[in-house]
Amino acid sequence: MMSLHAEPAGLMADLRTVLGHAAVLEGAEMPARNSLDWSNLDPVPPLAVVRPADTAGVAAVMRLCTAYGVAVVPQGGLTGLCGGARPVAGGIALSLERMSGIEEIDPASSTMTARAGTPLQTLQEAADAAGLYLALDLGARGSATIGGNLSTNAGGNRVIRYGMARDMVLGLEVVLMDGTVVTNLNKMLKNNAGYDLKQLFVGSEGTLGVITRVVLRLYPKPRCTMAAVCGLADYDSVLRLLESARRDLGPMLSAFEVMWPDYWGFISALPQVRPPIGEGHAVYVLVEAQGTDEALDQPRFQSWLENQAEAGVLADAAVAQSLADVGAFWSVRDAVTEFNRVIGPHEPFDIGLPVAAIGNYVKACRSALENALPGAVALFYGHIGDGNLHVAACLPGAEPQPKERIKEIVYGLVRQFGGTVSAEHGIGLSKKPWLPFTRSAPEIALMRRIKSALDPDGLLNPGKVV
Ligand code: MLT
Ligand code: ZN
Repeated sequence: MMSLHAEPAGLMADLRTVLGHAAVLEGAEMPARNSLDWSNLDPVPPLAVVRPADTAGVAAVMRLCTAYGVAVVPQGGLTGLCGGARPVAGGIALSLERMSGIEEIDPASSTMTARAGTPLQTLQEAADAAGLYLALDLGARGSATIGGNLSTNAGGNRVIRYGMARDMVLGLEVVLMDGTVVTNLNKMLKNNAGYDLKQLFVGSEGTLGVITRVVLRLYPKPRCTMAAVCGLADYDSVLRLLESARRDLGPMLSAFEVMWPDYWGFISALPQVRPPIGEGHAVYVLVEAQGTDEALDQPRFQSWLENQAEAGVLADAAVAQSLADVGAFWSVRDAVTEFNRVIGPHEPFDIGLPVAAIGNYVKACRSALENALPGAVALFYGHIGDGNLHVAACLPGAEPQPKERIKEIVYGLVRQFGGTVSAEHGIGLSKKPWLPFTRSAPEIALMRRIKSALDPDGLLNPGKVV
């Protein structure tokens, strides 16, 4: 690692000269929140929190840090769950929070151009006000920023219909570690002119470049939303329900969330949750559809459900009668934010598995955890239509939590079932040791070649992902 100057004090002075004093925070001025994301790792205070106001400022930070040999960790809304935005000791935290705002909404192209530090919810509301729809949605929408969403290739609740963050981006502006600004704010759906460079940065968790501006694909605003919560007798019925939902609801199908009884029991006990159906089922499904004409689509949804009940796929179901009901149904699923309060410190997982294998995985995982750690609690739920299972596991009362043992069991079975250690949250720091369970040695070697081509000194978000 080359360093032109010996001490970071020179770096701080140079950063202040270029960005202004208010953009460089050190020591007690640094907000505590910049020392960690939403992962359960230990916080690491950075050398400084640096908050440029524009792309030129980001480029200047990158050039100076390269010259001084100081690491840079990009930060958005800090809602990541794997430590990808946790600072590294002796490195700066590059916060994009001042780079917020929408530059343009283009109805003809159906796109929105925005700065990376804009919160996801702000973008959703702006699209809505323009009569359009930004389909990316997740629980942390109020704090998460679009730059972070794209750099982690966020998934969320409506992937089954619209895809992941990667499917919603048409253009990007990125700053490389050497300060090069690569701008391609493409608005066209089709552009096959050479490598699709933007996809290199989407999902690379800030290890290859810093996203500064984005062009997002918008959709027509759904005119009606239908939802039901169903109780089913077994996982085979879940597969039958999913197949028929895909077939009979077609492109209207916008979410297919599944919850197992332990999850349902814990969540139903929360005072703010009113479970739409009773306990006693083997599996619970929240299914949502978005339509274009309520008069046609609502009865279609209703009759699809009735057919499923008649065919014996459903044991019980509650159908939303209003948008307020739809919101109440989602609150059963969104209550995952209460886990820390309900089950205490736990290990969260976002594994991916072939959809058909998930029922058996849950059984195998639950019994392996119970055998190895008697008294362990494991809550299973997730975006099962996407093959994405969440597990929240802990040993109540244990201090410290047997985290490594829990991970060995969960990821060991993932490998056995041919799944992935991360379906949507990314690798960051906490899942790095488990990457080889999912990616082959040549794949990891290729990732490292790409990393060293773009960041030869290893200064950009070092130690993350690969
Ligand atoms: C979710 O689906 O609610 C989020 O990915 C967070 C999680 O449950 O881990
Ligand atoms: Zn999720």
